[in-house]
Amino acid sequence: MRGTTTVRPTGRTRRVVLRTTPTGSLRPHHLDVVETVLPTCGAGDVLVRNVWLSIDPSVRIRLSAETPKGYLPPFRPGQGLEGLALGVVEQSENPLFAVGDLVEHTQGYREHAVLTADTSTIGGYGSPRVVRPDGVPEQWFLGPLGSSGLTAYAAIVGILDVQRSDTVWVSSAAGAVGGLAAALASARGSTVIGSAGSPEKVEYLRSLGLSAAFDYHDGRLIDRLSDAAPGGIDAYVDCVGGEHLIAAIDALRTNGRIAMCGQMSQYDEGAIGLPGNLFQFVSKNLSMRGFRAGSFLHLEGEMRAEVSALLRSGRIHYREWVFDGIGSVPTALVSMLAGENVGKTLVRLS
Ligand SMILES: NC(=O)c1ccc[n+]([C@@H]2O[C@H](COP(=O)([O-])OP(=O)(O)OC[C@H]3O[C@@H](n4cnc5c(N)ncnc54)[C@H](OP(=O)(O)O)[C@@H]3O)[C@@H](O)[C@H]2O)c1
Repeated sequence: MRGTTTVRPTGRTRRVVLRTTPTGSLRPHHLDVVETVLPTCGAGDVLVRNVWLSIDPSVRIRLSAETPKGYLPPFRPGQGLEGLALGVVEQSENPLFAVGDLVEHTQGYREHAVLTADTSTIGGYGSPRVVRPDGVPEQWFLGPLGSSGLTAYAAIVGILDVQRSDTVWVSSAAGAVGGLAAALASARGSTVIGSAGSPEKVEYLRSLGLSAAFDYHDGRLIDRLSDAAPGGIDAYVDCVGGEHLIAAIDALRTNGRIAMCGQMSQYDEGAIGLPGNLFQFVSKNLSMRGFRAGSFLHLEGEMRAEVSALLRSGRIHYREWVFDGIGSVPTALVSMLAGENVGKTLVRLS
């Protein structure tokens, strides 16, 4: 029967809390995994047992003492972290959810969560809703068919409208969003240049058949980009900000465009100030749009159709970087922020 359970789960559960606010790089000791009493379900609520946690760079923004205007508030010491997750309903006091349903939501970084009608979302993405995997791995709804996929699709299709004639640079191209953005741009027949942070990642990008790939540590970034795209670029997917953004502005041709989804290079250290080459937006008629995946929910259906087809045909070589157990979350997060991952970083709890 929908919306009820005969057994009320009791006992204890664990979640990840902020121990101390980091300055600079996040370390595992900034976080704690603490045991608490299993939360109880009120009217309209749903208790889920999380099975997959999405480990996203954006959580680092909320671990700082202040967050940028317009963003979610910072976590305070002692507060539980939040993030996208998939959970199985164990108790439901809500007719929209049945025991056993798989639900996507934003109350990750914990083993169990009570989802309420006003559970917060991440920029509009992650309102509790039932996910039906229909034969694909369920965790794909946190990766290529979820927020990572929608972010990449919004950049390539919704904002940049990438065409076959375009030369597109994708930063952080061995990561979850960047990898999908590069694959979507390649699928449109464009010339795709990927950058990443190690020679191994560059080899991986070359093995995917990108037109060019380079390690942004390998000398001056602006020179590496110029080597990879001697005639310049038409579009840039910015996951990184800072020096990457400055190099993109320099390399963009007339009418070039930028889709900015994140600023990995600034999350630890804070903003570096405005690029000095901004006048090129005027002289070259450039455009840039920052965005959150939640603003492109209207594209989710078409994104899932295209990305599923690309995955099935093998044209997207999607990779996961998986950790096990709630105790591994601090390491998983630090490892991803340090660039050790290839593909989507996840923690499996089942
Ligand atoms: N707007 C949205 O709605 C939305 C949604 C999801 C994600 N995002 C953004 O998309 C970007 C990628 O997210 P993701 O989940 O796909 O993560 P990811 O790329 O899988 O992992 C993060 C990567 O960032 C790179 N990195 C770390 N520090 C860096 C630095 N100082 N300079 C340059 N690169 C650095 C590392 O790769 P390297 O080894 O290559 O350095 C690391 O692997 C992030 O900026 C994130 O905030 C935005």
